Amino acid sequence: MTRAAATVFLVGAAAVGIGTAVWLSAAPARLSVEVGPPPKSGGSSAGTPDLVGVTGCLAAACHGSPGTDALAGTWGPATWQSSGTCWMAADPHRGAYALLEATQDTPRRRPDRPTAWEITELLGQKRADGKKLEAYEDVRCLACHTTPALAHPDVDRDTDDAVERARRQRMRGLRADGVGCEACHGAAKDWVVPHTAWKGRDGHAELFTKYGMTPLYDVGERATTCVGCHVGAPASPGVPVRDMNHDMIAAGHPALNFDFGEYHRRLPKHWYERARVGGHDNAGPGSEARRWLVGRVAHAEAACRLLADRAARPVTDERSPWPEFAEFNCATCHHHLRGEGPTARPGVRGQMVWQPVWPATGEFGPNPGVAQAPQLDKLRDLVRVMGTRNKFPGRGVVGEPALAAADQLRQERLTLVKAPAVEVTARAKNAFPKLDGKPTDWDPVGQVLLGLAALERDRDPGKPPKPGFDPAFDAVRGHRDWPAALKTLAPLLP
Ligand code: HEC
Ligand code: HEC
Ligand code: HEC
Ligand code: HEC
Repeated sequence: MTRAAATVFLVGAAAVGIGTAVWLSAAPARLSVEVGPPPKSGGSSAGTPDLVGVTGCLAAACHGSPGTDALAGTWGPATWQSSGTCWMAADPHRGAYALLEATQDTPRRRPDRPTAWEITELLGQKRADGKKLEAYEDVRCLACHTTPALAHPDVDRDTDDAVERARRQRMRGLRADGVGCEACHGAAKDWVVPHTAWKGRDGHAELFTKYGMTPLYDVGERATTCVGCHVGAPASPGVPVRDMNHDMIAAGHPALNFDFGEYHRRLPKHWYERARVGGHDNAGPGSEARRWLVGRVAHAEAACRLLADRAARPVTDERSPWPEFAEFNCATCHHHLRGEGPTARPGVRGQMVWQPVWPATGEFGPNPGVAQAPQLDKLRDLVRVMGTRNKFPGRGVVGEPALAAADQLRQERLTLVKAPAVEVTARAKNAFPKLDGKPTDWDPVGQVLLGLAALERDRDPGKPPKPGFDPAFDAVRGHRDWPAALKTLAPLLP
């Protein structure tokens, strides 16, 4: 079967063995928890969404000018005029909905990644009339593959109110835009007219808040926006939950191995990166290190909020199983049954280990940079709750520590966004582990490598990268050869 381990990033396509007995914990208790501030996702506070849609931003006099320069990698003060054109031409989010419309005959885009049709075939969900629930009808898939507010189930319901019916129809139509402008910039109805008159930087931050435009100039808010879909997020008013669980991964959906620094770099930029609002310099020295570290912290925060939300759901929700395997380090269960092969795990066999969001979750033992920071002690508590026993923690015991950890991580994110660049760079460098001789999980090692690459991009933008990155990527991602990986990583560590 082709949906196999190929989707397991870095864990490898090597034989998947389920080496762990799975103990279920005692009857889960219901826990009612508050799940933190709503994610930025283009929602509307009441009922069905009222979005402007991509075409609302694309007039030639607005963001629809020819985008030749930005597409060729030259940005400047006039880039905003072609932002929409660039998105249309090059952004991976544009096709996010179209993916869901795959049929039995649609070829795979990559041989190791099943189509949406294949994934939903394995998931086997049925509609009320007994027919297969297609991906483009499933709120679970729509929540991340369109502007999330458009996935609201009410959009698909009929109503007697003719005006509302027409609006819902229009909103269904907007799904075809994929992950549109408002998925990142916020629902535009209230700001689409006024924002054309915002000049200069003074008072910009207040205007963003007043009109509900997402403050993407703030690298922490930017990362939080992306992780809403690339990690997941609880439901918020008008926006359904965004949740990639093990059922969907086992049915062939790629596991979401996100790294904000790396994905941000890979996104074709439709903007001129600069200090748009006072106190936020996203282009100067140290900005790669800041994006990387802030991104890791925002990622861990999102994972904690999603975990708290999963733990608080009704036990009867069959699409939301508990324990949720995707919460755990994949190598806990998927590894060679014997020996020290590339997917062997050190430590106690059968012990659950929470998902690695290195350096926040502190793999590789004590290091002073992030994992040992006194201000993140709640995260360490959570990692212990999730991983000290040979059985799954019950729902009742994880909600509170997960929320406490999320709140600390949020504080840490706010601090890192404001800290001077030299301090953030020093903290980023401090985070790197002294890798010793033992083979270790490939997921956190891959995360180390992406962090190293971010620091390297900061080093001197004029200079060619240190030699050694290609062999390191090859050893870590290609061969999964631990001695070779150690040899290539050692000289790259700061
Ligand atoms: C939590 C958000 C989320 C949910 C829920 C979600 N997806 Fe995705 N999906 C993503 C992201 C993010 C990617 C891109 C992954 C990457 O490349 O890192 C993706 C990629 C894909 C791909 C592309 C694979 C390829 O060829 O590259 C398909 C197909 C897909 N999703 C289908 C689905 C289907 C079907 C569902 C519902 C069963 C679904 N998705 C639910 C976020 C989500
Ligand atoms: C995946 C998230 C995402 C999507 C989708 C998105 N943007 Fe952006 N956009 C950003 C980020 C991040 C920035 C940088 C913000 C900053 O520097 O303050 C940005 C900046 C901009 C800017 C400022 C450009 C400048 O140089 O001043 C404009 C205009 C813009 N986007 C328009 C659009 C339009 C129009 C669409 C839809 C066609 C869109 N964006 C879709 C993330 C997104
Ligand atoms: C509303 C959900 C959503 C948001 C918000 C979002 N993404 Fe995505 N992103 C997706 C989905 C779904 C895909 C997969 C699209 C596809 O494969 O066609 C994707 C794909 C990507 C890809 C291409 C991945 C690949 O494998 O080629 C990059 C890079 C990316 N996103 C970066 C970002 C960044 C950076 C942000 C924040 C500025 C962001 N995304 C915000 C849903 C989202
Ligand atoms: C608690 C143990 C456990 C954890 C942790 C776990 N899995 Fe699984 N996984 C399983 C089991 C058991 C199956 C077989 C389920 C079935 O066939 O119905 C499976 C099946 C799969 C499959 C389908 C394999 C096939 O050949 O069809 C994939 C892919 C997968 N898991 C990926 C992952 C990823 C990625 C992670 C980490 C995010 C992960 N798993 C974490 C236990 C686990």
